[in-house]
Amino acid sequence: MAGFIGGVFSRDKGRMRTLQNIIVTGGAGFIGSNFIRFLFRNKDFKGMIVNVDKLTYAGNPLNLVDIEEVYGNKRYFFEKMDICNHAKIKELFKKYSVDGVVHFAAESHVDRSIFGPGDFINTNILGTFNLLEAAREVWKDRNDVLFHHVSTDEVFGSLGKDGFFYETTAYDPRSPYAASKASSDHLVNAYRHTYGLPCTVSNCSNNYGPYQFPEKMMPLMILNMMDEKRLPVYGDGKNIRDWLFVEDHCSAVWLILKKGSVGETYNIGGENEWQNIELVELMCEKMAQIKGKDKDYFKKLITFVKDRPGHDRRYAINCDKIKRDLGWRQEVGFDRGIDFTMHWYINNKEWVESIKSGDYRKWIELNYGGRERTSR
Ligand code: NAD
Ligand code: DAU
Repeated sequence: MAGFIGGVFSRDKGRMRTLQNIIVTGGAGFIGSNFIRFLFRNKDFKGMIVNVDKLTYAGNPLNLVDIEEVYGNKRYFFEKMDICNHAKIKELFKKYSVDGVVHFAAESHVDRSIFGPGDFINTNILGTFNLLEAAREVWKDRNDVLFHHVSTDEVFGSLGKDGFFYETTAYDPRSPYAASKASSDHLVNAYRHTYGLPCTVSNCSNNYGPYQFPEKMMPLMILNMMDEKRLPVYGDGKNIRDWLFVEDHCSAVWLILKKGSVGETYNIGGENEWQNIELVELMCEKMAQIKGKDKDYFKKLITFVKDRPGHDRRYAINCDKIKRDLGWRQEVGFDRGIDFTMHWYINNKEWVESIKSGDYRKWIELNYGGRERTSR
């Protein structure tokens, strides 16, 4: 088997892939919707996207109305579907002659995984298993296809003051979310190794940007500032995260689709570490500037609250490999990314209000009903 895998590697190396019919799972969520928009803006991409999403609380088709309007039922198809539904997923592979999968769909919020891990086990582990099985059954021994699995740096555990996560760092997941993602990464690598399924994996740090569900730290803080509500900082606020603008993550995934080597894992990160409290203070200052207030006006809203159980202290990614091997660079970066993001939430009142009021759920019910739905 090792020889066979070696064959896939060597045939694949240095070759530019042109995937045409791509399933994007979780495309109605934060990163998935940004990725689909990124692809349609990209002149290099000439293919078709099938967005497969169950529309959980985090999935919002409003994130892609502009794409639906221009490309809907031509180059963009939406399938309301649970990735755990084996028969339906397999059918989709055939129906759209799928040659690529970009797998974003997941339960993604660490706090929710602590209070209710069940959905995380189902979607993140069993859902990934199900997609892999469908790909293996339909693609058989094809090697002109690719299954790209989008994962997180949280699988590596927590760092002390120094050091970085490398692709070779041993897994040490510490929340149910991280454990479920680690499990799915292992399944993907096992399918590549055992069955020769052409797979790649990426492990990325904290993303921020437009369309992020406001349970996550950055949009939560922005929306709370706008409403002059308290800004809940967990524990002593000194936990460190590495922040990457979502479009810079999308461009990395796109490069992996085009020229990532089968069987490889790529770390993606912002090389941009912030203590939570320092980041929240920075956002307060930026909001004050935007709203014409005194520099410290919003800082009075900062409230230290009970810590997240098992709260990982520090994440930091070394992403030399994707820079060296695929030539990836951040195009937007932090200074522009954070300003853009703050203005986006301030200016996109309709989107913000539909989330806050829950009206986007009513819209989904009206347009998509409670049942699974297919585009054609
Ligand atoms: P998100 O929660 O915003 O979106 C997840 C999407 O998946 C939603 O549209 C949801 O409806 C869909 N989904 C959930 N369960 C499903 C199921 N059973 N079947 C079909 N669709 C389902 O998540 P996100 O922040 O966009 O993250 C996307 C992926 O990137 C996840 O795999 C996450 O682990 C990974 N990731 C996220 C970050 C980050 O900072 N947000 C960083 C690194 C990696
Ligand atoms: O590192 C990648 C991960 O980043 C992704 O895999 C996850 O899907 C994504 O949700 C994110 O996980 P975090 O737990 O790091 O993100 P979150 O926005 O929930 O929290 C960021 C930091 O801010 C974390 O240290 C906890 C803290 N925090 C969070 C919230 C929601 C607060 O202090 N207050 C808050 O209200």
